[in-house]
Amino acid sequence: MKIDAVILGASGYGGGELLYWLSRHPNVGSVRGTSRSLAGSPFSLAHPNLRGVVEGRFEPHSLWSSSGKIWQELAQSEQPVVLAALPHGELARTLPTLEAAWAEAGIADRLLLLDLSGDFRIRDPAAFEKANRTPHPCPELLSRFVYGLPEWNRDAISRAKRIASPGCFATALQLALLPWRGLNVGFIAANAVTGSSGSGATPSPTTHHATRANDFRAYKMLAHQHLAEVRMMMSACDIPGTLAFVPHSGPFVRGIFATIQFAKPNDLDLRQLEALVADVFSGCPFVRIVEESPRVAAVAGSNFADVAIAADENSVAVMVAIDNLGKGMAGQAVQSMNIALGLPETTGLWSVGRFLN
Ligand SMILES: NC(=O)c1ccc[n+]([C@@H]2O[C@H](COP(=O)([O-])OP(=O)(O)OC[C@H]3O[C@@H](n4cnc5c(N)ncnc54)[C@H](OP(=O)(O)O)[C@@H]3O)[C@@H](O)[C@H]2O)c1
Repeated sequence: MKIDAVILGASGYGGGELLYWLSRHPNVGSVRGTSRSLAGSPFSLAHPNLRGVVEGRFEPHSLWSSSGKIWQELAQSEQPVVLAALPHGELARTLPTLEAAWAEAGIADRLLLLDLSGDFRIRDPAAFEKANRTPHPCPELLSRFVYGLPEWNRDAISRAKRIASPGCFATALQLALLPWRGLNVGFIAANAVTGSSGSGATPSPTTHHATRANDFRAYKMLAHQHLAEVRMMMSACDIPGTLAFVPHSGPFVRGIFATIQFAKPNDLDLRQLEALVADVFSGCPFVRIVEESPRVAAVAGSNFADVAIAADENSVAVMVAIDNLGKGMAGQAVQSMNIALGLPETTGLWSVGRFLN
């Protein structure tokens, strides 16, 4: 199968990761990408690591975000794929126009769309409105999207043409929670620390790396927007516990480290808890169960999630490390793309980052 991919928002952090992963994917024949500010410039202007290896230039975002003839060009492709790495709200604003353009070009049914933003992760319009304090711009399209966490709903992804890739914090928390399907674990205390790339390429006073490099702080305490999608998964997976989540800003660039803790169920010992973890992740090539603490440095630059469990007589702790731009974003989207297109899940993704001990 030959894939032709278009990245909407290719000049950002997620766009750069997508260019990296897709350009080394054996089934991807071409990758095009948009930017408003860098239209006409080579990809390497925003992503100098790609120089000499990934050729191509940013195309004007307006060319691809409208109903123009450009979609007729993509219609020549054996398998058209669109990956949107746009700021929150941008795809939802334009998707009705895009769907009309895809229908006109005759590709609406076979085009695979992966959205990396939070626009289509919550299926219920009322829950979306509650989480975002604003109504969804095109609620009629929400139910077409499948939530793209392969370790939870690989089957649904394999039949999907519209995929909402999970948030980075949400991915880490959901992987920590998945082993406890069907178990009432009661109150779950969750915290997670993210690196500064989690906020994208444009710095703000609270996300600029210089303001956090020598600092450590919590933010959006008990109120992070990813809670809605995590709770959606908990409800679908019959995990009736109460989740209290506090996110933190860490003094590193790439990575998320999440910890959840809850009271140990009386009838389960550590060996049985470990067996539940091993069972839920069997057949999940990108989840590695580790004995010691997971390490952000061991997953950075890869699509792996490292998971560890600890327990004493009263308590259980589950720790997860991911790269927010890898398993937390672009790598996971490519993983879902593979599944949706019937390719082996690891195609183009089976590699590790660099590590110094
Ligand atoms: N960073 C992470 O760790 C992470 C993880 C999971 C999910 N996400 C989500 O993925 C999406 C992209 O994140 P990111 O970190 O890659 O962001 P980013 O670095 O800020 O990149 C955003 C991209 O969108 C373009 N853009 C900005 N405003 C636009 C607009 N109004 N219309 C069209 N294009 C616009 C930007 O280029 P121009 O300004 O040149 O057009 C750039 O290419 C966000 O929704 C984010 O929440 C991020």
